[in-house]
Amino acid sequence: MKIILALVAVLAVAASSPSLPAAQSKVLCYYDSKSYVRESQARMLPLDLDPALSFCTHLVYGYAGIQPDTYKAISLNENLDIDRNHANYRAITNNKSKYPGLKVLLSIGGDADKEEEQKYNSLLESPQARTAFVNSAVLLAEQHGFDGIDLAWQFPRIKPKKIRSSFGSFWHGIKKTFGTTPVDDKESEHREGYTALVRELKAALNLKPNMQLAITVLPNVNSTIYFDVPAIINLVDIVNIHAFDYYTAARNPKEADYSAPTYKPQNRNDLLNVDSAVNYWLTSGAPSNKIVVGIATYGRTWKLDSDSEISGVPPLHANEAGEAGPYTKTEGILSYPEICAKLINPNHQKGMRPHLRKVTDPSKRFDVGLTKDGDFFGTYAFRLPDDSGEGGLWVSYEDPDTAGQKATYAKSKALGGVSIVDLSMDDFRGLCTGDKYPILRAAKYRL
Ligand SMILES: *[C@@H]1O[C@H](CO)[C@@H](O)[C@H](O)[C@H]1NC(C)=O
Ligand SMILES: *[C@@H]1O[C@H](CO)[C@@H](O)[C@H](O)[C@H]1NC(C)=O
Repeated sequence: MKIILALVAVLAVAASSPSLPAAQSKVLCYYDSKSYVRESQARMLPLDLDPALSFCTHLVYGYAGIQPDTYKAISLNENLDIDRNHANYRAITNNKSKYPGLKVLLSIGGDADKEEEQKYNSLLESPQARTAFVNSAVLLAEQHGFDGIDLAWQFPRIKPKKIRSSFGSFWHGIKKTFGTTPVDDKESEHREGYTALVRELKAALNLKPNMQLAITVLPNVNSTIYFDVPAIINLVDIVNIHAFDYYTAARNPKEADYSAPTYKPQNRNDLLNVDSAVNYWLTSGAPSNKIVVGIATYGRTWKLDSDSEISGVPPLHANEAGEAGPYTKTEGILSYPEICAKLINPNHQKGMRPHLRKVTDPSKRFDVGLTKDGDFFGTYAFRLPDDSGEGGLWVSYEDPDTAGQKATYAKSKALGGVSIVDLSMDDFRGLCTGDKYPILRAAKYRL
């Protein structure tokens, strides 16, 4: 009896210890293996993960794919992931020995799998295809020491907003373009097929010891259409909502806007913000602690031209995607360290190209807790074009402050935590201020 009482006392102390809730919050760190083949300072090797791992509860290895004809789950880069020279799957899962609490998940899809993308739909329509996928995915994960699978399913996307044709019809255009044409004429079949897939994958994972099942809702996938929350929520351990990339140059090159607002900025679509995406899952009955909010570590860029409003305040007229960064080499995207290198900074040499002026989130002016009226739209930075109309740039991005705000948001709604998407676009070398992984750290600190 005494022993039991003592135990109860110990447990009670442990339960009330302030560090405990923080320890339970999830920090999912996405590792995009493509970063292995980037050049110079953007090339990320497994050992570059070391400074991050103590902040992560999960490492999500992106991305495996699907073989179109067999529907089997496969590595998209066997030379890197599996072959003996690199054996990157193993190199990464072996890190668990230093961090015994770390779960390493193999993520499938994630928009990295570009060959015959239609297979993500047709697989859901066929029980045989699902079986082939489930068996091969579990085997692939198990053989390389993963602790589970993350399904980052490449569903059809919400149609992008129509490019505005003239200034006058701008707001009118927005109202008309959403929800008119369905992007998928077999919506309900795909929803049911996905529910079956989750059920079958869970059953197969259950036959193995301690295998987790996570799902990732990719940007601009309409959860209402594809995720039957009551049917799947008890089968999954984590729902990662990648609530960003709502506004990008690929979706609308003519209009720059906050790419991942936490709440709805005035006169925007009601549904294209973090809070709305999260609320769909909560109101459909998902336990809040299974939901994780994604924080992008890269910015979305547009070129401004002489027609762009000089205030820089979004939404504003833009010309096209901003030019690719020196390391990430993708139009319309800059990693956090690529952005911070462009910001006005007293240490920068005179005579360099004009720098970007940073405009911090308006909510920072009000030093208050989170309310529904808070802004929390994000940070942006810009420079206007020169006299010849060249060189204008506008970028919407997360900095450590806004990443911290998103973690605070997650905490205020008692969510499971946050995910960092991805580690390779955070400042993993500490080039901005000397701190490595500033976005990851800021988010972790506020959970
Ligand atoms: C993680 O694995 C990589 C590759 O094997 C290794 O270089 C690194 O030191 C490991 N880190 C830890 C903390 O075990
Ligand atoms: C998502 O789908 C629902 C149901 O069809 C629809 O009402 C909603 O407008 C869609 N959301 C967006 C952002 O298109």
